[in-house]
Amino acid sequence: MNETVVSGIRPTGKLHLGNYFGAVQNFLKFQDTYTCFFFIADYHSLTTHPTPAGLNDSVYRVLAEYLALGLDPEKCTLYLQSDVPEVAELYLFLNMNAYKGELERVSSFKEKAKSQPDNINAGLLTYPVLMAADIILHHGTRVPVGKDQEQHLEMARTFANRFNRLYNVNYFQEPFAIGSGNKLVKVPGLTGGGKMSKSAGEADSIYLDDEPEVLKKKIMRAVSDSGPATPGMHKSVPVQNLFDLMALVSAKDVIDFYDKSHTEGSIRYGDMKKQIAEDMEHFIAPLRSRIQDTLKNRELVAKAAKTGMEKARESAGKTIREVREIIGFRPF
Ligand code: TYM
Repeated sequence: MNETVVSGIRPTGKLHLGNYFGAVQNFLKFQDTYTCFFFIADYHSLTTHPTPAGLNDSVYRVLAEYLALGLDPEKCTLYLQSDVPEVAELYLFLNMNAYKGELERVSSFKEKAKSQPDNINAGLLTYPVLMAADIILHHGTRVPVGKDQEQHLEMARTFANRFNRLYNVNYFQEPFAIGSGNKLVKVPGLTGGGKMSKSAGEADSIYLDDEPEVLKKKIMRAVSDSGPATPGMHKSVPVQNLFDLMALVSAKDVIDFYDKSHTEGSIRYGDMKKQIAEDMEHFIAPLRSRIQDTLKNRELVAKAAKTGMEKARESAGKTIREVREIIGFRPF
């Protein structure tokens, strides 16, 4: 089947390990095989009211990082969401068939409403509608994302199907989240809580350009178990998190060694963290240097944005013309 892959990342600062293993790693894999659209979700980031300069810096940074990590504007369409106003038009159409009740039940909305009670804006409520617009605008069928986006994809299918039903057409296809193998990835944070996330503070995330000393310090301070290990002990959440991080960057025999020493009760978490820090540095070093170089190459980044905008608007324009026709916006 001819799959179309669509995905995006919000420009909220530097990319971290969760963004890489949840999303970018698969972007790199798919750009060689499928028709791909990867963008910077800068409209989405407006829900938290960035300053104009801050927004501009973050968008530039994510595009530079996309390029540094290996996304190739010749192989995929790489663009800024705000360069494609058709996204906003489709968002408007889909909003007419998205209901308050279902939007209020979305977990990410409920979490945000709790964490930012003074800023529960309409953009936050309709966030999944904008995401659906991003995806179905290019007839996306596969969406490489981390586990945290699963429910949003469910909503995107609902909105695509609802449009088809309302207008009695078979126009939009259902998009599905895609991860590694048949699992969506969740990279844990370093502070012992849930997924790695910028909002959990500096110490929670490993950024793809963290300097060696910073990287080492963060990992050595990661939450683990304090008490002595005993044979056959169950892995606590923070300990499982360490194993999950190790699984991303360490060799199989190293992972097996620590697994066995955990089972035997002889594990030393300090040693395990030292090993993770070493293997992480090995993984990050080439990325860091490419990110630093690309950030300086403003011409390359600007050229990629322009090429991407043109390609994305071509695909988006066709969809919007067809959607307008379906809805009944036709010449007399
Ligand atoms: P965002 O910017 O929060 O995250 C970007 C991508 O990184 C993944 N991710 C993670 N994966 C595994 N473990 C983690 N700890 C982790 N943290 C982040 C996310 O799952 C995501 O794939 N709403 C989206 C952006 C978006 C989008 C879209 C995505 C807007 N429109 C259309 C796909 C299709 C978001 O806020 O991602």
